[in-house]
Amino acid sequence: MELFFIDHNMKRLLLILTSVAMLASCSKKAETFSVIPMPNDVTFLRGAVSVKGAAVEIDPSIDKESRAAVGRFVQALETATGVKTKADGDGFDFKLNPNLGPEQYYIEIEDNDIKVEASALNGFVYACETLKQMLPAAIYGNKKAKADWVLPCVKIFDEPRFDYRGMHLDCSRHFWTIEETKRYIDVMTAYKLNTLHWHLTDDQGWRIEIKSYPRLTEVGAWRDGTCIGNDLDSNDGIRYGGFYTQAQLREVIAYAAERGITVIPEVDLPGHMVAALAAYPELGCTGGPYKVWGRWGIAPDILCAGNEEVFDFLEGVLSEVMDIFPSEYIHIGGDECFDPWKKDAVYPWDLCPKCAARMRQLGIKQGPEAKHSLQNYVTARVQKFVNSKGRKIIGWDEILEGELAEGATVMSWRGIEGGIKAAAKGFDAIMTPYTFLYFDYFQSRERDKEPVGIGGYLPLENVYSYEPLDGITPGAEDHILGVQANLWTEYIPSNEHLEYMLLPRMCALSEIQWCNRDKKNYTRFDASLGHTFEILDAMGVNYSLDCRGLIGLDRKPARNAAELADYMEKNKVNW
Ligand code: ACM
Ligand code: ZN
Repeated sequence: MELFFIDHNMKRLLLILTSVAMLASCSKKAETFSVIPMPNDVTFLRGAVSVKGAAVEIDPSIDKESRAAVGRFVQALETATGVKTKADGDGFDFKLNPNLGPEQYYIEIEDNDIKVEASALNGFVYACETLKQMLPAAIYGNKKAKADWVLPCVKIFDEPRFDYRGMHLDCSRHFWTIEETKRYIDVMTAYKLNTLHWHLTDDQGWRIEIKSYPRLTEVGAWRDGTCIGNDLDSNDGIRYGGFYTQAQLREVIAYAAERGITVIPEVDLPGHMVAALAAYPELGCTGGPYKVWGRWGIAPDILCAGNEEVFDFLEGVLSEVMDIFPSEYIHIGGDECFDPWKKDAVYPWDLCPKCAARMRQLGIKQGPEAKHSLQNYVTARVQKFVNSKGRKIIGWDEILEGELAEGATVMSWRGIEGGIKAAAKGFDAIMTPYTFLYFDYFQSRERDKEPVGIGGYLPLENVYSYEPLDGITPGAEDHILGVQANLWTEYIPSNEHLEYMLLPRMCALSEIQWCNRDKKNYTRFDASLGHTFEILDAMGVNYSLDCRGLIGLDRKPARNAAELADYMEKNKVNW
């Protein structure tokens, strides 16, 4: 009896000691777990599983696209570890689980097995990205690396908070090559974004080949020069431009689609159209001549709303755009037709006989609202055309001024009010407020150390603090489809600078888009950034270290994580 008692107590003691050790090891694991965006449901288990030369089994019922995504993960693992995977034995087991939603995934790593389940491409892509972020950062590189190739034992069930998780790219003000655009998509993939909003046309350059209007790229894709720095009246006299052929656009769309990313094209209308007017001056109220703009700001010249040829033009352009881009949504712009800082200015629409005739025909009363009513007419007509092709429109929040036809989605950029108003009126909305999500804004207050920029102040922590449902009328929350950050490129001439503005702010964006409210935690996010910087180094992507006090593009002394860690150690700066 006594013996049994001792034995029983010893067992209990052992159990307690083991549990304490397990808890300590699990909480240490939780501390070092640095996946961004943080998965929504993680259980930390004891131990780790080696993945070097592990087996990979892929359920044959998984669709071709998802198998290709898993294949890219396996390829990255083999390259980084320098060891081929095997067909059988302990290791990865990728399984189709039709009970999961298209963006959900499940990972269970235990007893030398790594079970991965999803039902569709996006789920498999996100599972692979989570696995990659749990491994040494070298998995994002393209060479063999010496590292501890193990995965921690965990169970993860994960799904995004918002369906629409976007990042915008302006390729009009400055032009990005196909390779640079694909790299942009690669970082979006790493952080589980699913929509690229491609701003393809603007006053400073038309970037999309339209076969029925060839002058759009022959003339509209090129400007004679660009203003220098903040001096809008200067000009460097250097011809600048470029455009994407339809084949190149399709290549980017396919590349994104393989990674679960939809590309939404934007043809900004009826404003921001000077490049098109330079190509086809008859589409403007005055007939021109116009020149592709070499300065930044809001151009007074826009498409004439009274000329039927303009609608033929828009329908012709949008038909080709819809033929190239399979996205459910087509973005038709609608912003800044009139300068909000020049309320009393006289615009071509005020003076144009064709626009006046259109207003009379529509019964629009003269007055300060007349212009907005005429813009409503243009929006509604284009929306009808886009809808007739089975697609839906998105427009900047100016489209809400006046009447807006049912079925339009509003992109709230002038703060959060547009989104609040749209949702309350029953329209879907995407939140992109400049107050939190304009990545062309400065990241530090020490502007003298930063490259020339548009202004503003948007450090990483402010981005992270954004809560998309704040202020939304109770009951209208479901109209908020999701969140996007915008990256306008007037002041961003190089890819190095583009990536510097994008990262790590896009990582903060990813947690706004993905993480449930209770999973967001800036301290935990901040502690994960060291690993993210290593990942970006491995990818060869630039990023800002303003959040670590190393301000500016030329962030000396470090250009890679090892040098940076050394610098930080010596200077007592934390990751
Ligand atoms: C915008 O920033 N003009 C939408
Ligand atoms: Zn006109």
